[in-house]
Amino acid sequence: MNKYYVSTPIYYVNDVPHIGHAYTTLAADVLARYNKQLGKDVFFLTGTDEHGAKVAQAAKDAGKEPKEYADSVVSGFQDAWKLLNIDFDHFIRTTDPRHEKIASEVLQKIFDNGYIYEGEYEGLYCEGCEKFLTEADLVDGKCPLHPNKEPVQQKEKNYFFKLSEFQSWLIEIFEKDEVKILPESRKNEVLGKLKLGLQDISVSRAEVSWGIPVPWDNSQTIYVWVEALLNYHTATKFLEGKEKFWPADLHLVGKDILWFHTIIWCALLKAAGIELPKQVFAHGFFTVNGQKMSKSLGNVISPKELVDRYGVDGARYLLLSAFPFGDDGDFSFEKLDTKFNAELANNLGNLVSRVAKLCETGNVDIGPQQPNSQHHLPFTEKHIQNLEFDSVLQLATGYVDQVNKQIDETKPWENIESKHHVLIELVDTLRQIAYEIRPFVPETAEKIQNQFKGPKIKSGEPLFPRLQRFARSQ
Ligand code: ME8
Ligand code: MG
Repeated sequence: MNKYYVSTPIYYVNDVPHIGHAYTTLAADVLARYNKQLGKDVFFLTGTDEHGAKVAQAAKDAGKEPKEYADSVVSGFQDAWKLLNIDFDHFIRTTDPRHEKIASEVLQKIFDNGYIYEGEYEGLYCEGCEKFLTEADLVDGKCPLHPNKEPVQQKEKNYFFKLSEFQSWLIEIFEKDEVKILPESRKNEVLGKLKLGLQDISVSRAEVSWGIPVPWDNSQTIYVWVEALLNYHTATKFLEGKEKFWPADLHLVGKDILWFHTIIWCALLKAAGIELPKQVFAHGFFTVNGQKMSKSLGNVISPKELVDRYGVDGARYLLLSAFPFGDDGDFSFEKLDTKFNAELANNLGNLVSRVAKLCETGNVDIGPQQPNSQHHLPFTEKHIQNLEFDSVLQLATGYVDQVNKQIDETKPWENIESKHHVLIELVDTLRQIAYEIRPFVPETAEKIQNQFKGPKIKSGEPLFPRLQRFARSQ
């Protein structure tokens, strides 16, 4: 099929966008751009998760109504994605009445199919995670992800989803890669936990009014995680002409929410009689200077901070080249500065400016772009398809480095009149590199392509001005 549908998580509006959210969204953008470049019909969905107790509480703290509060945060996400040149096709908000209507219909369908029953739930609930915790989840009686938030005892009438009935079916679809979980190590984690057994889950809340009403019982709202997952499907239903994109080719998520996106999501879809997504990829989590990013530590980095320092493409390049996408990693301005100067300012930037200068001095007539520079280097193709973004960029940077060295050795500036063929070849190489890195650094690639259009080439502004003042480690 010549279509490609990639999604990001929909982010909670109780937080402002930071580079954690940017990380996933940027990766999706690169994949969307790459697949468009391959000529596919692409649908790239991102958005915000706006219902539930956590958001209601954040709104209350801000002295606003939940929807009014969400509106104020959503524009921050949209601005951040615009700033990072993230070219999504639709930004879904779960407060969109079109989403609410279809999410409610799907839950009704699951109910009609006999997979939902009434019961009573009692347990410790973490508002940070928006989920009930089990004894095994607790660390010192607290949620390990939200140690500052006291879990609250909740007891209520709930509707339950028969998740436990799906255990052996889920094992089979994941073992057979009918729904592919990547990286492999995460797949094994999910399967390991899955094989320990599954309990039914509550899919409604009696105490949370900020949500979509349960269609057959308006005294309850749909559990926020259930309707949030449904966004991936509802968008393809309510947007004109997007139905053909279901099932999704890839759900990109952080490792924190992989369980929801595999076990719960696939079981819900099966119960509703909807086709399953093809792939779920969970990337790692990163720290900043070795610490978890958190509001209380005051070390949350916004996308704007990165763009102010490194430019749009600098930020895009640095985020995805720092460490393997599936792994956990660490960012610091110190490391980013070093990488920026070495790989972008000195290496790529320098190659572009010296080739332009050589062509200008040599007064070379460069022919039109050759079609052979309109494809991917065979050795990077596999890596991008496996979401090994750091490898693609490392290979591209290595290639640039090699060309720089070749120029040092062949010294085309000596006797430049006789070196036209060398310069023409260099220009072609640059065009090829530009094509290669275009999904990652679209503006830079375009600048390179424009600068080397020919027939006459001129020097231009440096692509990545060197950072003079280095960030110091904290
Ligand atoms: O979980 N490193 O939303 P959320 C890498 N609304 N990625 C990070 C990160 C970090 N330090 N911090 C955040 C939710 N992320 C639900 C999702 S989807 C149906 C509902 C990214 O706002 C990563 O993608 O808590 C992670 O999975 C996501 O932000 C969590 O965003
Ligand atoms: Mg979270």
